[in-house]
Amino acid sequence: MQLTWLGHSCVLLTGSKKVLVDPFIRDGSVKGTDPDIVAITHGHADHLGEAVALKKKTVAVSEVAYYLKAKGVQAESMNIGGTLELDSVSFTMTPAVHSSRIEDDSGSYDGGAAAGFVITMDGVSVYHAGDTALFSDMKLIGELYHPAIALLPIGGRYTMGPAEAMMAAQFVGAKTVVPIHYNTWDRIAADHVPFKKALERTADISVRILKPGESMECSPVQ
Ligand code: NI
Ligand code: MN
Repeated sequence: MQLTWLGHSCVLLTGSKKVLVDPFIRDGSVKGTDPDIVAITHGHADHLGEAVALKKKTVAVSEVAYYLKAKGVQAESMNIGGTLELDSVSFTMTPAVHSSRIEDDSGSYDGGAAAGFVITMDGVSVYHAGDTALFSDMKLIGELYHPAIALLPIGGRYTMGPAEAMMAAQFVGAKTVVPIHYNTWDRIAADHVPFKKALERTADISVRILKPGESMECSPVQ
């Protein structure tokens, strides 16, 4: 399976299916990725992104799924703690300590709870934390699902910053960590260099810094 970071919180997983998480990038469109399935961590605009325009099969928490269905999207609702198998891809919705609200031209709507996902395809599990603070139950995500890769926000202000993400990485225990949700705007500026150095010195974890649009290969945990 291949993982492509398109920027911000937007990640494309390409294996037997194409799964796009949080279809928002700051500049341009993600329409060209042509995913089979879209997964939305929460209702904020920088995550819901182009979900309505893409009109693909979309996995989201009940409130976001309800909104998307009303817009003509084939949305699959689920909720935190649950697992949904869709076209041989498994989505487990994990908690996130964050808020959620949907805003569009006609008003603002309840986004339900904010979440993250453990997505398993072709035997590889990836944890996408969504927008979240550090919470100690990330240990359970590691113990239960053994993700090979953890995508963790490090931008601060709205989510964890690098210091908290260092502890999150150790709680989850994935061998590879990819920082996300940083440097999209000045308000979430963060330096991945000390984050990578400090984490790799402290733990048996490698930090992979991707440029927007850059891909990496993901193999199953041995
Ligand atoms: Ni958010
Ligand atoms: Mn966000």
